[in-house]
Amino acid sequence: MTVAPRLDPGVPLPASLFDPITLRGVTARNRIWVPPMCQYHADARDGMPTEWHHVHLGALARGGAGAVIVEATAVVPEGRISPEDLGIWNDDQRDALRQIVDFMHGQGALAGIQLAHAGRKASTYRPWAAERGSVPVDEGGWETVAPSAVAFDGYAVPTALTLDGIAEVVAAFAASARRAVDAGFDLLEIHAAHGYLLHEFLSPLSNRRTDAYGGALEGRARIVLEVVDAVRAEVGESVPLLVRFSATDWAEGGWSPEEMEQVARWVADRGIDLVDVSSGGNVHARIPLGPGYQVPFASGLRAATGVPTAAVGLIDDAHQAAEVVASGAADVVLVGREVLRDPNFPLRAARELGVDLDYTPPAYERAYR
Ligand SMILES: Cc1cc2nc3c(=O)[nH]c(=O)nc-3n(C[C@H](O)[C@H](O)[C@H](O)COP(=O)(O)O)c2cc1C
Repeated sequence: MTVAPRLDPGVPLPASLFDPITLRGVTARNRIWVPPMCQYHADARDGMPTEWHHVHLGALARGGAGAVIVEATAVVPEGRISPEDLGIWNDDQRDALRQIVDFMHGQGALAGIQLAHAGRKASTYRPWAAERGSVPVDEGGWETVAPSAVAFDGYAVPTALTLDGIAEVVAAFAASARRAVDAGFDLLEIHAAHGYLLHEFLSPLSNRRTDAYGGALEGRARIVLEVVDAVRAEVGESVPLLVRFSATDWAEGGWSPEEMEQVARWVADRGIDLVDVSSGGNVHARIPLGPGYQVPFASGLRAATGVPTAAVGLIDDAHQAAEVVASGAADVVLVGREVLRDPNFPLRAARELGVDLDYTPPAYERAYR
C-alpha cells in the first residue's frame, strides 16, 4: 500500500470509498468504478453491441459501481483492436449503445465510454483465437496506421499518418464524442494509454516523426491536446472528460511519469477533469506486478498537480480500495478483473466495510443484509 503523500493546498481532500464524487455537476454514487474492458463481442464485426454487452454492462451497473466505463470503442473502423471491437463511428452504433446506457442509468450507475483508436496495435485477433498477431487483410483485417512506420513487435508494420490523416483522427474523436453524448453517456474517456494510437504519439519509442507531431514533448503531445480541444469544443462544458495515460513505458528511453505529469497539466488546463493512470503496453517490457502496483503513479500525479486521478491495477479487495481513496492516493479506484469474477464486488465491498447502501437492488437485499 502506498503512503499518502502530503497534499498541496490545491489537491482535493481525501474521501471515503462510498462517498459520491461530482465532476462538472455530474455525480457518481461512489468511487468504485469499472474501467474499460474489451469484450471482443461485436461478433458480426460491425462495431455493434450485442446481447453480450447488454448483459455484461448491465450486470456491472447493477453490481453497485459508481460508474461503468464501456470498453475501448473505436472512433473509426481501422481504430479497432480486433474486428470484434465495439465502434461508435456511425449512428446505428450510437442508437444501439443508448439502450445499454438507459439500463445502466436505471441501475443508478453513471455510464462512461472509452473513445479509442488502436493505431499500430489494431487489426489483431481476439485473445481467444487460435492465431496470434495481425489479422491479414484477406481475413477481414486492415492496414494499420501510426505516428511512424515502426511495428509493435510481432505485428504488421503500420503506415505513418499524413497530416491530413491526423486531422481526420482528431475529427473522428470529436464526432464520436458527440454520438456518445447523444447516446446518453455521462463521462467520456479518451484512450491515450496501452500503446494505442495516442500513446504511440506520446512515446519516443514509437514516434520518430520530424514534423510538428514528433520530437520534443510539445510535438509528441500535440495530437492528444488537439483531440482534447476538439472533444471539449464538440460536447461543451457540462460533460466530464477523462484521459487514460500509461504513466510509463517501463522501458529505457520511453515515455515516463515526468512526461505524463507535464502532459496531464496541459490536458487539465484544457478541461480534462480526471486522469486515469495505468501503465505500459507500448513495447514488450518486464512490469513489476503486485497489489496496487500502479497506485504510486496516480498518487504522485495527484500530489504534484492537484489533478483528480483514478488508480487502477490489481486493486481487488474492499479494504485495499478504501485505503487508496482514504489515503488521498486517488479520487476513484477502478476495479477490473475482480468485477469480472464478481460483478457485485461494489455491493460486497460495502458489506465488508460495514457501509449501508440505499442502492442495493431490492431483489438482492436479502443477500446483503
Ligand atoms: C478483459 C480485459 C479487457 C481490457 N480492455 C481494456 C480496454 O478496452 N481499455 C483499456 O484502457 N484497458 C483495458 N483493460 C485494462 C483494464 O482497464 C485495467 O486497467 C486492468 O485490467 C488492470 O486493472 P485490474 O487489475 O483491476 O484488472 C482490459 C483488461 C481486461 C482484463
